[in-house]
Amino acid sequence: MVKICCIGAGYVGGPTMAVIALKCPEIEVAVVDISVPRINAWNSDQLPIFEPGLDEVVKQCRGKNLFFSTDVEKHVSEADIVFVSVNTPTKTCGLGAGKAADLTYWESAARMIADVSKSSKIVVEKSTVPVKTAEAIEKILTHNSKGISFQILSNPEFLAEGTAIINLLNPDRVLIGGRETLKGKEAIQMLEDVYAHWVPKDRIICTNLWSAELSKLAANAFLAQRISSVNAMSALCEATGADITQVSYAVGKDARIGPKFLNASVGFGGSCFQKDILNLVYICECNGLPVVANYWKQVIKLNDYQKTRFVNQVVSSMFNTVADKKITVLGFAFKKDTGDTRESPAIDVCKGLLGDKAQLSIYDPQVSEDQIKRDLSMSKFDWDHPAHLQPPSPIAIEKVRVVRDAYEATKDAHALCILTEWEEFRTLDYKRIYENMQKPAFVFDGRNIVNVKRLRKIGFIVYSIGKPLDAWHHGKPE
Ligand SMILES: NC(=O)c1ccc[n+]([C@@H]2O[C@H](COP(=O)([O-])OP(=O)(O)OC[C@H]3O[C@@H](n4cnc5c(N)ncnc54)[C@H](O)[C@@H]3O)[C@@H](O)[C@H]2O)c1
Repeated sequence: MVKICCIGAGYVGGPTMAVIALKCPEIEVAVVDISVPRINAWNSDQLPIFEPGLDEVVKQCRGKNLFFSTDVEKHVSEADIVFVSVNTPTKTCGLGAGKAADLTYWESAARMIADVSKSSKIVVEKSTVPVKTAEAIEKILTHNSKGISFQILSNPEFLAEGTAIINLLNPDRVLIGGRETLKGKEAIQMLEDVYAHWVPKDRIICTNLWSAELSKLAANAFLAQRISSVNAMSALCEATGADITQVSYAVGKDARIGPKFLNASVGFGGSCFQKDILNLVYICECNGLPVVANYWKQVIKLNDYQKTRFVNQVVSSMFNTVADKKITVLGFAFKKDTGDTRESPAIDVCKGLLGDKAQLSIYDPQVSEDQIKRDLSMSKFDWDHPAHLQPPSPIAIEKVRVVRDAYEATKDAHALCILTEWEEFRTLDYKRIYENMQKPAFVFDGRNIVNVKRLRKIGFIVYSIGKPLDAWHHGKPE
């Protein structure tokens, strides 16, 4: 029986291994992590991450051929294939600080694999890593191997949170990179055989190691660039009276461009886009390509600009001061259908409003009070380290209240900011909300989900990203 072990039971390790276990009943899959609470949660009814469809998959396989454990060494030593899906944060100090990937967790996982292995293994990079990481990992493994042979493969993960299970069951492609030697090809074949249980052959792409590593960074850079491009246009729309929804639709109708990922918003978030682009920028700089580095850097700068622009719009519309005004924040997760808040634009928007002394009342259907307060008090990049290394949760943040209901959150508020596109925010009773708010009542829609005409009719002053502004936002109240 083939045994698979995955180091790192996070947003990637958990769902990907659950789907492999579901589709390959004859393979035993163990997911291991150093975090005891995380593993306990995977073994309970309250999984550590919210992901539509995940519960069902886990329930079908757990205890049969899918196991979650903190006994990292035992499962690694028994495995034929070891996936490494640990976090790869941005370095916060030293060489490459603020850009380069911090491979501390990866390197310690590699050293542990070398220490405990008694038989040959395929080691698979599942984490997103800089190009040429496999070379470094190969060195660590072979120099500590006691004669055991290791083959390194790169198999980056392309799932999107919120749709992870659908993406894993029906991937656009599976990418496997390996050495172009006989042993390398055999290893690629072995991993290909795993995916071939449910993925059509023509969607499994085999490349050399460096192409696979770079393709992941490139794909995230292209995706983020699309969002920054449409957000750049949204600023021009507001200045000219064009409507970004109409512009996106017209642009996306070109088959070469396509309609997806063209929604203007308050900015992209999530654990990957910024981190991976910074990493790409750093690699370009190290390879003497400053023009290429600056090109990609601009994608992040534009994203930061969009968040700042949103905060400025809120403050300037509200007579240039939000001090002690109650502002409701609807949505804190970085997108709908996930409880993940890593790099969520809501964090920067809230920090910006707090900087102007606003009182915040925050509601998100999936994010806990503890998580929101942690996010608002954490330094940049701290979030991407295992929980036990993060600062303890603060008791309270002055001026922030987290509530469990949108109506309670909006009561007596001066303004509401929609920062996540949760479906339930489309269908709220805005008339009821308006009646319970201070006047003038403002709506700042950072996701373009409300019906602007209808809300204006109710009496709201509405700002929507990239839409024609009403007279108010030009500083000329009607
Ligand atoms: N989240 C996504 O949507 C996504 C998508 C594609 C790729 N990725 C990449 O996948 C990697 C993992 O991302 P994630 O979102 O799952 O991160 P995560 O933080 O949710 O999970 C990583 C886990 O690894 C564990 N860990 C760290 N060091 C360990 C060690 N030495 N031994 C055992 N466990 C260890 C941590 O405790 C944590 O639970 C990152 O490189 C990320 O860039 C993420």
